[in-house]
Amino acid sequence: MKKLRVANIGLKFGMSHIEGAISYGAEIAAICDCNEDNLRFAGERYSIPSDKWHTDYMDIVNDDSIDIVTVAVPDQLHKKMSCDLLRSGKNVLCEKPLALTRRDISDIIKAADESSSKFMVGQICRFTPAFEEAKKIIDSGTIGEVYFAESEYAHDYMDLVDTWRSDPDRHGVIGGGCHAVDLLRWLVGDPEEVFAYGMHKLLPSVEYDDATIAVMKFGDNKAGKVFVSTGCKRDYTMRTVIYGT
Ligand SMILES: NC(=O)c1ccc[n+]([C@@H]2O[C@H](COP(=O)([O-])OP(=O)(O)OC[C@H]3O[C@@H](n4cnc5c(N)ncnc54)[C@H](O)[C@@H]3O)[C@@H](O)[C@H]2O)c1
Repeated sequence: MKKLRVANIGLKFGMSHIEGAISYGAEIAAICDCNEDNLRFAGERYSIPSDKWHTDYMDIVNDDSIDIVTVAVPDQLHKKMSCDLLRSGKNVLCEKPLALTRRDISDIIKAADESSSKFMVGQICRFTPAFEEAKKIIDSGTIGEVYFAESEYAHDYMDLVDTWRSDPDRHGVIGGGCHAVDLLRWLVGDPEEVFAYGMHKLLPSVEYDDATIAVMKFGDNKAGKVFVSTGCKRDYTMRTVIYGT
């Protein structure tokens, strides 16, 4: 069987993409990061030849020998990189959130539809063992019919306020809350109605609300809620509870 040739762009959280690719027996064909220290660290750690280290992602776009590219750069860059890679015929795994605006999301979907490549967004909760188990339990009917589900994303961004994560377009609900929202969509379905309140107390230097609560009505007599806090004074959590009849 041909070994798949994988390239990785963005080498902080993206290091886990390299480890995933290696664990599936793929060859790391190239790596890219505009920060040369991060590039060198990853290159040396995974013994990737230095002629495969790039600071410009277009070198990866233009390399026809690469099968799959994983994208783990700041969210603001997801759309441009994903579209360029898809148009060059690469299969793409892009980190969540897919993009920051509906228009950018539509552009990525269009580029994926027009290509013959596979595209995937890294909504990692669908592959997390505890949530996979929850899905199995729900689908088997063991807890009866689901009538309420709640999930949350609580992660203190205090140390991240001076980074791309504080961009007002990158609201906490989009950036991290997308995990909790995606989880409820996967476990319960798409909501039909939503309302929400936002609070702003913990991260005054960030323009967006740092805590939100959204209440959702699903079809078939079900409800749910998603709480997001990006300033919470506690450990990271994605506490999720599913209630069945
Ligand atoms: N699935 C998850 O649970 C999860 C967890 C963490 C981060 N993420 C996502 O992964 C992505 C990256 O997050 P992170 O925490 O690694 O961010 P980070 O800021 O720590 O690292 C981003 C990396 O991308 C590099 N980079 C920036 N611009 C670049 C460019 N133009 N070309 C090449 N490299 C560039 C930076 O030098 C840096 O090494 C984000 O989209 C984030 O939302 C997902």
